Amino acid sequence: MYHPEWICIVDFGSQYTQLIARRVRELGVYCEIHPFHLAMDAIETNPPKGIILSGGPSSVYEDDAPRISGDVFEQGVPVLGICYGLQLMALYHDGAVDPAARREYGKAQLRIDSQEDLFHGVAANSVVWMSHGDSLSRIPSQFEVIAHTENAPICAIRDAEKKHYGVQFHPEVVHTDEGKTILSNFLYAICDAEGGWNPRSFIEQAIEDIRAQVGDGHVICALSGGVDSTVAAVLLHEAIGDQLYCIHIDNGVMRKDESTQVVKTFRDEFHIPLKFVDASTLFLDKLAGVTDPEKKRKIIGNTFIEVFEKEAIDFRDAAFLAQGTLYPDVIESVHFKGPSATIKSHHNVGGLPERMNLTLIEPFRELFKDEVRNVGRELGIPASLIDRHPFPGPGLAIRVLGEVDRARLDLLREVDDIYLDEIRKAGEYDRIWQAFAVLLPVKSVGVMGDARTYEYTVALRAVTSLDGMTADWARIPYDLLERLSNRIINEVRGVNRVVYDISSKPPSTIEWE
Ligand code: XMP
Repeated sequence: MYHPEWICIVDFGSQYTQLIARRVRELGVYCEIHPFHLAMDAIETNPPKGIILSGGPSSVYEDDAPRISGDVFEQGVPVLGICYGLQLMALYHDGAVDPAARREYGKAQLRIDSQEDLFHGVAANSVVWMSHGDSLSRIPSQFEVIAHTENAPICAIRDAEKKHYGVQFHPEVVHTDEGKTILSNFLYAICDAEGGWNPRSFIEQAIEDIRAQVGDGHVICALSGGVDSTVAAVLLHEAIGDQLYCIHIDNGVMRKDESTQVVKTFRDEFHIPLKFVDASTLFLDKLAGVTDPEKKRKIIGNTFIEVFEKEAIDFRDAAFLAQGTLYPDVIESVHFKGPSATIKSHHNVGGLPERMNLTLIEPFRELFKDEVRNVGRELGIPASLIDRHPFPGPGLAIRVLGEVDRARLDLLREVDDIYLDEIRKAGEYDRIWQAFAVLLPVKSVGVMGDARTYEYTVALRAVTSLDGMTADWARIPYDLLERLSNRIINEVRGVNRVVYDISSKPPSTIEWE
């Protein structure tokens, strides 16, 4: 997608890099993250309005510390260095960094020495978030100190003429009181950005781009019922109308009434034609007897491709396949962040575009999840759809632990339905990032009426999280847990015990398989 105005964020590996991007976009300016070794190319190809050098875990003097060419300071474009970025900036000029200085993690009191440009409108004293080992010990000669803290006499610097700024703290983190004002000053007062990046402007540009790419061709969109594919389909429909073919495959491991709901919403509410395929029997036949979670994932992924290829015969003239790929996936694959992404194989339709000779259309390649939600709202999609919890591609197959069959799935569907119903009624749904039930392959003894029972145990899981990478168990009220336990055991035949999962991620994962 072409953006006339953008900010380049150079990534040196900070855990906060994506947060910088989100803040910049929240402030209305489009930005992209580029890894340090590729960023100069991007900058020279399409000069940005400004450059932000991220933090990073390294020390600038280490041999293999990530670096960027000193040319980054010669573009005539404003630069803001954050933490490691500030230290690199100092090093390229004639400053010095002291690796042995006092380490500082957490909150510190920032005292502003100059309330101009970067710190315009910022309180003279405020709380900032520090997370660094090294500190600046000598300021480069053209620069001046514009803020300090008790432990960091050189906490923020500037070369006002060249518009180079550096801060030791993290303005992108919510714990930095004035972070938003500081970033806004950099974007608008220093880089002279015009702003105007918002869901509406995104939609207008995306529609134009989709029309240009597709021409009078046809696009297939596989709808899972999740947020990303729903918003993608509605956007594409807005762009190309009946050149879009939607297909929804019931893989037998969806939530209760999920497929019926997807079909109804698309046909009746959005008026988007949809091909519905009930392939549940085929999927369940293939899953029969399988207990290994990774095998379940592979079977579901491969069966999906098989069914899709067969059903897409109706759409022979389609040359494109739409996918709801998000920016964090793109960053992960480009930056190659290591093994964390492959703890579980998450991608369910890999290889499909190549096999079917379809060109991918990924309208959200540049968006974060919350931005996709905002686009969805702007397109008029109801909140009940937009604010849904994430749901994994392999669905309930990885929540029925051990062997999966229709009876167990039906049982879990009932439990899950009661669970979601109760947390919605209690007003907890939006506070929780993801909630679901798990059917354990464990039977235990109970007593109901005067009779002894020997039935299944279900575990309830609810987590709070920002992005699913880390998570904590949700502190839901005891009286809600009590209602849940009562209803589930009374209403779902085959269950006589309910437990609540109190594990965080790490060391556990969100799903049980
Ligand atoms: P874990 O269990 O790895 O889950 O902590 C993190 C997030 O990813 C979802 N998840 C999946 N999503 N296919 C998906 O599309 C998968 O195979 C898969 N496994 C886990 C999980 O629901 C949570 O939101």
